[in-house]
Amino acid sequence: NHCVKLLFLRALFCLLSITGFAVPVTAYTLKRCRISRNKAICTESHLTNIPQDIPARVIGFDLSKNRISKIKVSDFKDLKNLKTLYLIKNNISVIDKGAFTHLIALQVLNLNTNSLTEVEDNLFDGLSNLTELRLAKNHIQAVAPSAFQSLTNLNFLDLGNNKLHSLTQVKSILHYLPHLQYLWIGGNNFSTFQSSDFSSKSTKLRELDLSGNSNLKVFNLTTDIFPNLTSLNLGHCGKTNSMIWEVHNKTFLGRVSNLDISGLNMSLEGMKTLLESLNSSLISLRMSAMRRNVQALINISCGIPSLSKLELRSNGFKAVTQNLFHLCVSVSELDLASNQIRCRSDNCFRSLRQLRILNLKSNRLSSVPFATRNLPTLEELDLSFNEISALGCQDFANLTTLRKLSIRQNMISSLKDCAFKDLRQLQVLRLNNNYISNLNGAFKNYLPNLISLTLNKNRLTIIRKGTFASLQSLQNLSLHENQINRLEPGSFIGLTNLTIIQLQSNNLTRSQINISVFGALKNLKTLHLMENHIKYDTEDKIVDPPFSQLSKLETLLIFAQHYRLKSHLPQNLLQGLTNLLVFRTRNIEILSLHPDTFNYTPLLKELDISSNELTDIPAQLFSQIKNLEKLYVSRTNLRSLDFLVNANLTKLRFLQVRKNAFSVISEEQLQSLPALDYLDMQGNSFTCNCDNAWFLQWVKNNNQTQVYDAYNFECNYPHALKGMKLLNIDFHTCSVDIGFICFMSTSCTVILFLLAFFTYHFLRWQLVYAYYLLLASLFDKKQRNKQTSHQYDAFVSYNIHDEPWVLRELLPKLEGEQGWRLCLHHRDFQPGKPILDNITDAIYQSRKTLCVISRRYLESEWCSREIQVASFRLFDERKDVLILVFLEEIPGWQLTPYHRIRRLLRRRTYLSWSRAEEHRGLFWEKLRQALETKEDPVLQSKKTLVFLKKIFYYILSQHLLQE
Ligand SMILES: *[C@@H]1O[C@H](CO)[C@@H](O)[C@H](O)[C@H]1NC(C)=O
Ligand SMILES: *[C@@H]1O[C@H](CO)[C@@H](O)[C@H](O)[C@H]1NC(C)=O
Ligand SMILES: *[C@@H]1O[C@H](CO)[C@@H](O)[C@H](O)[C@H]1NC(C)=O
Ligand SMILES: *[C@@H]1O[C@H](CO)[C@@H](O)[C@H](O)[C@H]1NC(C)=O
Repeated sequence: NHCVKLLFLRALFCLLSITGFAVPVTAYTLKRCRISRNKAICTESHLTNIPQDIPARVIGFDLSKNRISKIKVSDFKDLKNLKTLYLIKNNISVIDKGAFTHLIALQVLNLNTNSLTEVEDNLFDGLSNLTELRLAKNHIQAVAPSAFQSLTNLNFLDLGNNKLHSLTQVKSILHYLPHLQYLWIGGNNFSTFQSSDFSSKSTKLRELDLSGNSNLKVFNLTTDIFPNLTSLNLGHCGKTNSMIWEVHNKTFLGRVSNLDISGLNMSLEGMKTLLESLNSSLISLRMSAMRRNVQALINISCGIPSLSKLELRSNGFKAVTQNLFHLCVSVSELDLASNQIRCRSDNCFRSLRQLRILNLKSNRLSSVPFATRNLPTLEELDLSFNEISALGCQDFANLTTLRKLSIRQNMISSLKDCAFKDLRQLQVLRLNNNYISNLNGAFKNYLPNLISLTLNKNRLTIIRKGTFASLQSLQNLSLHENQINRLEPGSFIGLTNLTIIQLQSNNLTRSQINISVFGALKNLKTLHLMENHIKYDTEDKIVDPPFSQLSKLETLLIFAQHYRLKSHLPQNLLQGLTNLLVFRTRNIEILSLHPDTFNYTPLLKELDISSNELTDIPAQLFSQIKNLEKLYVSRTNLRSLDFLVNANLTKLRFLQVRKNAFSVISEEQLQSLPALDYLDMQGNSFTCNCDNAWFLQWVKNNNQTQVYDAYNFECNYPHALKGMKLLNIDFHTCSVDIGFICFMSTSCTVILFLLAFFTYHFLRWQLVYAYYLLLASLFDKKQRNKQTSHQYDAFVSYNIHDEPWVLRELLPKLEGEQGWRLCLHHRDFQPGKPILDNITDAIYQSRKTLCVISRRYLESEWCSREIQVASFRLFDERKDVLILVFLEEIPGWQLTPYHRIRRLLRRRTYLSWSRAEEHRGLFWEKLRQALETKEDPVLQSKKTLVFLKKIFYYILSQHLLQE
C-alpha cells in the first residue's frame, strides 16, 4: 500500500516536472561554498573559477586557498553588497580590467600570495569605497601610474614582498591616495628612498614599512614629505650594503614614536643620527637581531627620555650584566625573549626602576633569576620556555604588584606551599606544560585575587580536598591533559566563583563524578569532562545525580573520546541542570537514550550526541527541550530521520547528521523543521531515484535552508548511478525510468479499467443513450440535407415475436385495405447496409414511425433504438412522427415511471390493441387517422421527449431486472 502511494506520488511528481511545473531556481544552497553569517566561504575547495551562484546579499566572500588563475569581468557582477573579498593564496596572474567595477561597497580586498606581475591602469576602477588593499607576496614589478586612481578612500596598502624596484612607482601611488595612512612596501628591491623622488607631501601617512628591502642603500630626506609619520620600520634593510641615513632636518621625522631597526645594517654613526633625530618622540624601539654595537645602541636609545618600550630579542645575550641597562631608567617594558640568558646576578635589572613588564621567554634560565625579585613595580613577568625546574619560596618575594606570571613550558615537578606567597595581586598564573605532579598547598593559602589558573599538561593524578581553598576569585581553571584519576570529595572547595573548569583528557572514572566533588562549584557555567573514562552501565536512575547542585551550569561536555565499551546514559544524569544550554556527549558508544533524559534541562539549545551507536532516536527524547536550536547526530548509524517528524523541533536552526546510514530524505522530515537554516549531511550516500526527487528539488529551490556541501552528495543506489552526484541527476532521468514507465502504463490501465467499470456499472445506459442520440443527430443532419421526399407512409418497428400479428393483422389492413406503403425491416431493409443505417433511413424516409409495443418489444435492443431515432426526429424536426400501438396491457404497478406519462400520451397517438378487441374497426380507423396526420406542429414536444426518455429508462430497468 505504501508502495502504491509512493508510486502514485512519484507519478504525479514526474508529470509535474515533465510539464515544466518546476519553480524557478533561487539557489540558496551553493555548489562549492557555504554561507555563514552572511559571508560566502569557499576556501580550500580546489576552485579554478569564481563561483557564480553566490547570492547578492552576501557581505563577505572568502576564496582563499584555491586554484583561481584569472578574474574575469563578469565574475563579481552581482555582488553589490560585498564588503570584504579575500583571494589569498591562489594563482591569480590576470585580472580583467573592470573586474571589480560592480563592487561598489567593497572595503577590503586581499590578493596576498598570488602571481600578479603587474598592476595595470584602471585595474581597481569602481572601488571608491575600498579602504584596505593587500597585494603582498605577488611578483609585482610594475605599477601603472594611475593604477590606484579610483581608490580615493584607501587608507591601507600592502605591496610587501614583491619585486618593485623603483620609488617612482610608489610616488604615483601616493599621488593618487591622499588618505593613505599605512603603506607597507617591505621585502622589495628598492635601492634608495629619497624624498626628491616624491612630488608632494603625504600628510596623512602614519606608518611606513620598508623592512626587508635588503638592497636599500640610502634613506635620504631633504624635504618633510611625511610630517605625520609615527611608525617607521627599517628592519633588516641594507643587508647587502650598509645603509646611509641622510635626514636633512631633525624635525622631519619628529613624530615617529615607533621605530623598528632590527637587523638594520648601518654604521653606528648613522644609527646615532637616526636615533637622535627621534629624540623627543620615540616611545617604542625594536632592536632585535642586531649584529653589533648593541650595548652602544642601548645606551643611546636609553638616553631618549620618552623611550619606554625596548625590544631586544635574539641578540644572543648570555647574561644580563649590571651595566647593560644602567641608563634605561625610564624603560617600563623590556623584551629579552629568545636570548640565551642564564643570569644569576642579583642586580641585572636593578636600574630598571620603572619596569612593569619583563619578558624573559625562551632563554636558558634554570631557576627564577634573583634579578626579578624586589622589582617593586613589576606587573607582568614571562618566564615561559625556559629550563626552570623548581620554584623557591623567595623567587617571587615582594612582587606584590605582579598581575600576570607565566612559567609555562618549564621543568617544574612540584610546587612548594610558599611559592606564591607574596603575589597578592596576581590575576593570571600560567603553569601549564610542566611536570607538576604535586600541587601541595600552593593554592591553599595564597593568591586571593587569582582569576585564571592554567595547570593543563602536567602530571597531576590526584586533586586532594581543599587544594584550591584560597582561590575565591578564581573564574577559570584548566586541569586538562593531566592524568587525574582521583578527585577527593571537596577537591574544589573554595572555588565559589569558578565559572569554567576544564577536566577533559584525564583518567576520571564514573566514581569521581559525584555530588561531593562538583557540589561546591555553585557558579560553574562550563564543565569539560570529555575524553575521560566515565561509563555508566544502565539507563536506570542513579542515586545522587552528580550535577544536581550545578543549577547555573550552561555547558556540559562529557564522556570519552576513545572508550571502546558500550555504555549508557542514566536517565537522570542531568537532574538539577535547569539552566543547561549546551550538552555534548560524543563518542561514548551509547546504544540508546532514555526518552526522559532531557526532562531536566528545559532550556537546552544545543545537543550533540554524535559518534554513538544509536541507530534510532525516540522522538519523545525531545519532548521537553522545545528550545533546541542546534542538533548534532553525526556518525550514529541512523537509518532514517523519521524521529524528526514527531519531535516537534520548531526552533531547530542547525542540524548536522553527517555519516549516517539513511539514504532517503522525505518531505515530511524536512517540513517538520520550520526554522531550519543549515543542514549538514556530508558523508551520507543517497538513493538516486525518484524517492529523493523531492529532496533534490528542495535543496535547489528552497530559500531558507542551506544544505552544506549538497553538490557533492553521492549516489549509492541504484548500482548504475553509484558515485554520481545526487544533484546532477536530471529530472528526466527520473521520468524515463523503466520502472516508472511500467508503473505509468499499469496505473493508467488500472485507472481506465476502474473508470470503465464504474461507468459500465452505473451509467452504461445513459452512455448508450447519449451515443445513439449523437448518432441520431448526425443522421438527422444527413437526412435533412438530402431533403428526401418520403418513400413510405410508415416505418413499422416491432419485435420479431410480434411478427405474426404484424403480418396477419397489420399488413393486410393497412397496406391491403387502407393503401398505405409500409416499411418493414424484413422486407424493405437493404441487405448489407449496417442495421443502424437501415433503421435511420427507414425512419427518415417514412412520414411516421409505428412502434408495435409489447413487453418483448421493450426488451429488444433494436426496437428501443428505433424509438430513440424516431424520438430524436420528433424533438429535432418538431414533427410528430411516432405512433405507439400497445399490443398488450403493461400494468401500471409494474411500470410506475411509464404509467404517469401514458396518460399524457393517451390524448394523442396512443393505441391499444388488447383494449380494442371488441371494436377492431375503431382501432383501425384511429390508426388510419394517425397515419393521415401530416406535419402537425408538435405540441408539448419536450414533454414527449421526456416520455421517450422514461420509456428508455423502463427498458433499462427491464434489463437490470433480468440481470
Ligand atoms: C561608501 O562609503 C560611504 C561612507 O562610508 C557610505 O556612506 C556609502 O554608503 C558607501 N557606499 C556603498 C555603495 O556602500
Ligand atoms: C596628523 O594626524 C592628526 C591625527 O591623526 C591630524 O589631526 C593632523 O591634522 C595630521 N597632520 C597633518 C599635517 O596632516
Ligand atoms: C640626498 O638628496 C639630495 C637632493 O636630492 C642630494 O643632493 C644628495 O646627494 C642625496 N644624498 C645621497 C647620499 O644620495
Ligand atoms: C628644520 O625645520 C624646521 C621647521 O620646518 C625649521 O624651523 C628649522 O629651521 C629647520 N632646521 C634646519 C637646520 O634647516
